[in-house]
Amino acid sequence: MKLFDLSGKVGVISGAAQGLGRATAVALAECGAQVMLVDRNLAGAEATASQIRGSGQRAVASACDVSDPTAIEQLFREVDQEFGRVDFLGNIAGDGHLARPEDLTIADLHKVLQNLVVGRFAMCQEAGRRMLAQGRGSIMNIGSLASTTALGRGHIAYSMAMGAVIQMTRELSTEWSYRGVRVNCVTPAQVLNPSLQARIEADAGLEQRFLGGIPVGRLGRPNDIQGLAVLLASDASEWITGAIIPMDGGNTAMNAGGTPGHQGATIQRFDGK
Ligand SMILES: NC(=O)c1ccc[n+]([C@@H]2O[C@H](COP(=O)([O-])OP(=O)(O)OC[C@H]3O[C@@H](n4cnc5c(N)ncnc54)[C@H](O)[C@@H]3O)[C@@H](O)[C@H]2O)c1
Repeated sequence: MKLFDLSGKVGVISGAAQGLGRATAVALAECGAQVMLVDRNLAGAEATASQIRGSGQRAVASACDVSDPTAIEQLFREVDQEFGRVDFLGNIAGDGHLARPEDLTIADLHKVLQNLVVGRFAMCQEAGRRMLAQGRGSIMNIGSLASTTALGRGHIAYSMAMGAVIQMTRELSTEWSYRGVRVNCVTPAQVLNPSLQARIEADAGLEQRFLGGIPVGRLGRPNDIQGLAVLLASDASEWITGAIIPMDGGNTAMNAGGTPGHQGATIQRFDGK
């Protein structure tokens, strides 16, 4: 469909070895984009690239730790050499760290902020400079439910960082949109990935508690991002910028927060003593 045709566009997608990054890369390529697949797991990124090349589209895999701004500079030099332009950035890869607020070390807090805030910003800056020079481009930052609501359960560092990601999105959109570069942020609720799967398997009631906050009645799947990614990469979304877009099966609308009905470990009755 012409409205969503990405022929001639180049997408740079981080976290492309699996999950939301992989699903984004595959969807963009299906709509005609050439893609640079970025992950610290090079073998995984190569596997995604080979699947995309198998369907006839150009894909290049690159190993890069997106918490390292120097590595990101090098990555975009590679993008310049391979493709000579960048039209879309899927700023997706990134780790959190679980610890209660009273136990979180400052070193671990720095690590999360470096990864999710500094790293995401450095990716936006490198892609944004090129898009501004082209006069056109679109950035999709991945935030989280934790960007706008507290989760409890030891997510303090992750929430602080993801909160910053939406403000970064709004600032960049405000400074760059009139120069042709749109910046949006997608905020997923629980999407199945190996670490979430492991937590569900270790805690018998966890999946049901998550589902209690998701009106659609199922957890997210990585492919749930595909429609949004194609929309944001295409000219069909020309007037959408600075938006914080929930991809959450209705969780934010329900205003349930992360896990309704369960916060025993972190929210306790105040007994006044
Ligand atoms: N899955 C969810 O429930 C959920 C919800 C909200 C937000 N998010 C966010 O979405 C993003 C992707 O989530 P996912 O479910 O696809 O995760 P995932 O664990 O399935 O995949 C993440 C990918 O990113 C890569 N990666 C991680 N840190 C990296 C780094 N510093 N440099 C390069 N590559 C790195 C990993 O190797 C992996 O391939 C993450 O930032 C996550 O915080 C996920």
